[in-house]
Amino acid sequence: MTTEALNIVDQRTNVAYALPLNKGTIRATDLRQIKTGPEDFGVMSYDPAFLNTASCQSAITFIDGDKGILRYRGYPIEQLAEKCTFLEVAYLIIHGELPTESQLKTWVDDITHHTMLHEKTKEFLQGFNHDAHPMGMFISTVAALSTVYPEARNVHDPEVRKLQIRRLIGKVPTIAAYTYRHGLGYPYIYPDNELSYTENFMNMLWRMVEPKYRANPALSRALDILFILHADHEQNCSANVMRAVGSSQADPFVCTAAAAAALSGPLHGGANEEVLKMLDEIGTKDHVPAYIQQIKAGHGKLMGFGHRIYKNYDPRARIIKWAADQVFLTTGRNPKLDIALELERIALEDEYFIKRKLYPNVDFYSGIIYQALGFKPDIFTVLFAIPRTVGWLAQWQEMLQDPEQKIARPRQIYTGYPERNYVPIEKRTGQALAAGG
Ligand code: CMC
Repeated sequence: MTTEALNIVDQRTNVAYALPLNKGTIRATDLRQIKTGPEDFGVMSYDPAFLNTASCQSAITFIDGDKGILRYRGYPIEQLAEKCTFLEVAYLIIHGELPTESQLKTWVDDITHHTMLHEKTKEFLQGFNHDAHPMGMFISTVAALSTVYPEARNVHDPEVRKLQIRRLIGKVPTIAAYTYRHGLGYPYIYPDNELSYTENFMNMLWRMVEPKYRANPALSRALDILFILHADHEQNCSANVMRAVGSSQADPFVCTAAAAAALSGPLHGGANEEVLKMLDEIGTKDHVPAYIQQIKAGHGKLMGFGHRIYKNYDPRARIIKWAADQVFLTTGRNPKLDIALELERIALEDEYFIKRKLYPNVDFYSGIIYQALGFKPDIFTVLFAIPRTVGWLAQWQEMLQDPEQKIARPRQIYTGYPERNYVPIEKRTGQALAAGG
């Protein structure tokens, strides 16, 4: 039990309150006792965009944004990226501990045996326009899995959850690869169970007429590392959506689709695609200073820069920079890297970025590697969604097992009209509020 407390004096009533502090946090519901009288609802906290509100207790991912530290289940991201495979890290994130050899074998077998899509789901994908955005196809197809596995609604049954977690982790690369091939007009390739998770993904992306796809080991390892770096990132926008939608006890397929929808926005996972567009727009290294001036003048944002939590170099960006060099040894150097390095150099010396603690984030360099690997920018966010599915599922499961969690339902401060009487149509002025049309 905590003995720390926060003393508050309500100046309206001169009543003093001692609110218990636990891990530096007060409970927002403890504020409700602070009232001016029995009719008063009590004090609420107001925190648009959750700038200073913990919405849960979590044992999955730790970030120290000031020091640039990221750990999954206590293990530093640098060690995991160097020593593990993606599926090993996925096991760690979902189960809380690194697997033994036999646990890992079973886990890999389980995931591998859930990579196939129902033929009807494949047909569903065929219905999209040839130029449909891969992220829209990905979100819709993940949601459509909910119709194939209706038992997934039984979210309180641990065995049912276990199965859906394996299904989702197994199937997201298949869906992702099909969204890619759909745009190119190529036939969908069945998974190959002899290959690793990333090699199989590459097989489904790039196999043409050869009887057996053989991935370049340097490239499949680089992709594996990128997947490790993207696997979880505590209570970001999409994890928060996963938990919020899951709190209504919706099934994990629609929850994951909702989380992926949140990821698709340009301020979140969609930033990697925007970075490439930005580098294209800048064109050459000598245009960088003028571009930075434009950003400082308030015209747009430097995509791939800044983070709500990191006020230091994003540790993932550092590892991605290293992985990019490994990829370029095989693919040749992506010329966009020079523009990106120049952007980073100038931005990190500039007062505007220093003052606001804006550093490159995970999305700044990832697109450059993805492009060197042969991906077009519109699939970049899908590449982020594959590994992040693991994090979403771990967050979802933790939320369901937490006895303190209930359906997510924030409060509001109402700023609209007080009660007013109905106006007949012939007496209405036609004036609408400025916003919303
Ligand atoms: N370029 C220029 N100025 C920026 C940028 C940027 N990329 N990011 C923040 N700022 C400025 C912002 O204008 C504000 O300035 P002022 O104090 O003068 O108003 C100040 O820095 C604080 O920014 P904020 O918008 O209050 O910060 P936030 O925590 O709400 O936003 C962010 C975080 C990631 C949405 C934002 O930094 C951003 O839009 N970055 C570009 C998009 C991006 O790279 N997103 C990927 C994030 S990492 C991976 C992921 O989450 O998926």
